[in-house]
Amino acid sequence: MRRYCVCVVGVGAVGIEMLKILKERNFPVSELCVFAQRQRDIEVGGTTYNVKRISPDGFEGVDIALFAGTEGEKGAAVTYAHEAIKRGAVVIDNGSDFRLKKDVPLVVPEINAKEIKRHKGIIANPNCSTIQMVLAIWPVYKTVGIKRIIVCTYQAASGVGRSAIEQLRKETFDLLDSWPVIRLSRKTKESIDYKPALPQQIAFNIFPHIGGFEDLNYTSEEWKMVKETHKILGDDKIKITATCVRVAVRTGHSEAIYIETKRQIPLEKLKNLLSKQKGLKVLDSPKDNLYPLPVDCEGRDEVFVGRVRKDPFVKNGFWLWCVADNLRKGAALNAVQIAERLIRC
Ligand SMILES: NC(=O)c1ccc[n+]([C@@H]2O[C@H](COP(=O)([O-])OP(=O)(O)OC[C@H]3O[C@@H](n4cnc5c(N)ncnc54)[C@H](OP(=O)(O)O)[C@@H]3O)[C@@H](O)[C@H]2O)c1
Repeated sequence: MRRYCVCVVGVGAVGIEMLKILKERNFPVSELCVFAQRQRDIEVGGTTYNVKRISPDGFEGVDIALFAGTEGEKGAAVTYAHEAIKRGAVVIDNGSDFRLKKDVPLVVPEINAKEIKRHKGIIANPNCSTIQMVLAIWPVYKTVGIKRIIVCTYQAASGVGRSAIEQLRKETFDLLDSWPVIRLSRKTKESIDYKPALPQQIAFNIFPHIGGFEDLNYTSEEWKMVKETHKILGDDKIKITATCVRVAVRTGHSEAIYIETKRQIPLEKLKNLLSKQKGLKVLDSPKDNLYPLPVDCEGRDEVFVGRVRKDPFVKNGFWLWCVADNLRKGAALNAVQIAERLIRC
């Protein structure tokens, strides 16, 4: 079996999961290089990795480059993805920089793996909240069609990376230490000796603000759910509207998803479709208080759904509650699954 020279760019929240997943899934690696801004040794799951400072020449000889660095103009992907491609690598990128470009496949392998073949050097991983939603609706979409989606997300701090996880931890300790004082005042940020990664206090709080505010006062995260879903399904006729909310959870994004199907489907049949979908697991037993929770989904590979129920007033309307580990299926796992399909192409 052929083995591949693989590199991982970034060793933050997603990059660390990538290193774990490559090992767990026995990806056929001949050599593994790890790049970040700063050189150092890190230990992940009992293995020590030598992290090298990123440079264009570091991509010499790399077959597959898994990018989990920063986004944006000066981010890792914009600066180095083309350097990697120039040297012969295929880039699988976790950020949003290339997702909506025409010649870049946007892939959830369970749904549109065939798109991988048309890559021109870059394959994009969708946004974490999009991946779990499209996988949860996919079996229904392909069987009876979907004309409308209304989704509210409840997204974990780790969705913003390791600095936000630290912000949640520190704020929680600080607030518990000085509870009576803090409770009377929202101005707590001054007492924290690090740069907050989030626009509001995260501990004991939620806020409807993920990304920047854009058209019609929707946030960039909300638009990602619309535009990326249209691209992945190859169907821009579905009416999608989202409210994305950050919650004081470490890892695991939750979503309340409302769908209106095109054709009629009995509830039991819809549940049956969900339970047969690869990568999806139904946890739905109200009498046992059983439904997916982020604390149970952290570290798991599946996307979980529960609370599946009919809208009593709207024909063909259903609600689903969906939870997934944003660092795994929402990012690192989906990227490694793309790499697994790529080497089979
Ligand atoms: N977190 C999620 O749930 C999630 C989900 C889907 C997609 N994503 C995307 O995945 C990417 C990584 O996110 P994250 O949450 O892991 O972020 P993070 O925890 O903040 O980690 C960022 C990593 O990128 C490295 N880095 C920053 N600038 C770089 C550069 N110019 N060149 C090389 N490396 C650079 C950092 O290096 P140092 O360690 O040396 O500082 C760090 O290791 C982002 O594009 C994000 O949008 C994240």
